[in-house]
Amino acid sequence: MLRMMGSINDHLKNIEPSGDKRVNMWCHTCHSGRPRPMTLEEIVGETYKLMGIEAALEHYADLKENYYGKGAYNFGERALNALGYKMLGNEDVSGAIAFFELNAKEFPRSANVWDSLAEGYMRAGKMKLAKKYYKKSLKLNPNNPNAKDMLKKLREGQRG
Ligand code: HEC
Repeated sequence: MLRMMGSINDHLKNIEPSGDKRVNMWCHTCHSGRPRPMTLEEIVGETYKLMGIEAALEHYADLKENYYGKGAYNFGERALNALGYKMLGNEDVSGAIAFFELNAKEFPRSANVWDSLAEGYMRAGKMKLAKKYYKKSLKLNPNNPNAKDMLKKLREGQRG
């Protein structure tokens, strides 16, 4: 690590500083309290892959309890949302729903997280829940064009 830092700082010396002084690289520039400097999405995704959904959700809760507000992980809505979409990409719909559900619990005021949860349920073929959550998303953000479109499609699907 020390050698790596030396080499990074050597590289930085060749860069014209954009401010008053050159920016230094510290151990905490990367680590920031984390033994393995990974993003929240990566670390929870790894736990899910190795140990399953219960362990992953527990890991998220542990990290939040121990690191929230310390700048080590970004506990915004993006991490769980991205994990959910990653699982959808892997055709792992139940995993995706579990992450979207947790995100909706964490960020109940976000139109986006309900929209994602609705998409998860749609992919699971649970149209009633999909409809319910698209409506919820639309209530929080009446301009959400995706929720409007999807609700229209769901209504048309029910007629057909
Ligand atoms: C450029 C980013 C970066 C900087 C700066 C950095 N590290 Fe790391 N460090 C890493 C990464 C990435 C790993 C994880 C390797 C892995 O497990 O895949 C790591 C791993 C470690 C580990 C092993 C952790 C474990 O349990 O696996 C230690 C200890 C460590 N770093 C200490 C330091 C110290 C001390 C400094 C400052 C001198 C430092 N690091 C600076 C990126 C960095």
